Amino acid sequence: MTTMESLIGLVNRIQRACTVLGDHGGGESAFSSLWEALPSVAVVGGQSSGKSSVLESIVGRDFLPRGSGIVTRRPLVLQLHKTEEGSEEYAEFLHLPKRRFTDFALVRKEIQDETDRVTGKTKQISPIPIHLSIYSPNVVNLTLIDLPGLTKVAVEGQPESIVKDIEDMVRSYVEKPNCIILAISPANQDIATSDAIKLAREVDPSGDRTFGVLTKLDLMDKGTNALDYNFSAKLVTAVHVTPFALPLVITAREFVLEGRAYRLQHPWVGIVNRSQAEINRNVDMMAARRKEREYFATSADYSHLASRMGSEYLAKLLSKHLESVIRARIPSITSLINKNIDELEAELDRLGRPVGADAGAQLYTILELCRAFDKVFKEHLDGGRPGGDR
Ligand code: GDP
Ligand code: NA
Ligand code: MG
Repeated sequence: MTTMESLIGLVNRIQRACTVLGDHGGGESAFSSLWEALPSVAVVGGQSSGKSSVLESIVGRDFLPRGSGIVTRRPLVLQLHKTEEGSEEYAEFLHLPKRRFTDFALVRKEIQDETDRVTGKTKQISPIPIHLSIYSPNVVNLTLIDLPGLTKVAVEGQPESIVKDIEDMVRSYVEKPNCIILAISPANQDIATSDAIKLAREVDPSGDRTFGVLTKLDLMDKGTNALDYNFSAKLVTAVHVTPFALPLVITAREFVLEGRAYRLQHPWVGIVNRSQAEINRNVDMMAARRKEREYFATSADYSHLASRMGSEYLAKLLSKHLESVIRARIPSITSLINKNIDELEAELDRLGRPVGADAGAQLYTILELCRAFDKVFKEHLDGGRPGGDR
């Protein structure tokens, strides 16, 4: 494992430990500021834009509830922990700490059940997050947050306020300066109507922390949809107005929306997820990734960009970005961590060691993780690359 990988892994574990502590009555503490100082990635988009599909492709596993309409009704904080090659993949929920899930169909069921436990079997939403960790040799270290889809109208069984409630909930995540926004827009709809881009532009006007993702590229190809034409028309506009834009939408870094430019600092990534028919046929994730790779490699339009397209590339891009964000924040994270080490030591002295209670054990875990972070960070500096690119 590279130093940077282990730093991200540690950040992940510190975040998780902070969360556990919060749940055990730690409440508003130094740990919430530590959690807030650490970056995470929130997935934002309209209903059925492909958010859950993108998340599943990044993880390489089938585990999220889905269907038409509002399926994600509570935020899902998903932590991916990369483990050693050959080790078994498993998942763990914060609310079921003693249970290891190796069957991912049961993970899906538990997300559904746990959602219903808070919201009832309704179409209501709740801001209380579900925390899920996945341990696997096939993932990159990342914290991803799946959020309810933005919508324009309430459906039967939902209060009128739902449209605004969802938007407010999503905004509460994406307005945090440490939140990296994965803005999902389906390529077969007019980009000017993209809820994801609208919200991203509002909270991140400079486009520094927004990654634009275009799903359903395969549906755009057929050229039978009138919306496709609109979408292409936008491309042409973008191509004309920006010197950065290559003659393809996903490389265009600037879109003209409602007559005003919104420039993203990161390149757009195009994605082909499984269609509903493929999901119904139980096409597995590995086959889907293969198919996506093939799609880009053999496409007349995208083959020259194939190495910068697809969900595997997106996962690597995000992990790399997270690295650079963490590297830039190392000084502030370290000072927070040192402050926490001091506070934790005082707290543990007060409790008396060894501690058996959950909270005490968690304090101890965070202390150990903070020390490990500090140590790895110092090694990182000693490695002679302070602030530089690897
Ligand atoms: P969410 O509501 O934003 O989480 O969207 P989902 O991931 O549940 O996807 C909604 C529907 O769109 C499902 O039927 C997916 O199979 C389908 N879908 C998502 N992405 C793609 C894609 O890239 N290509 C095709 N053909 N279908 C997709
Ligand atoms: Na959906
Ligand atoms: Mg979803």
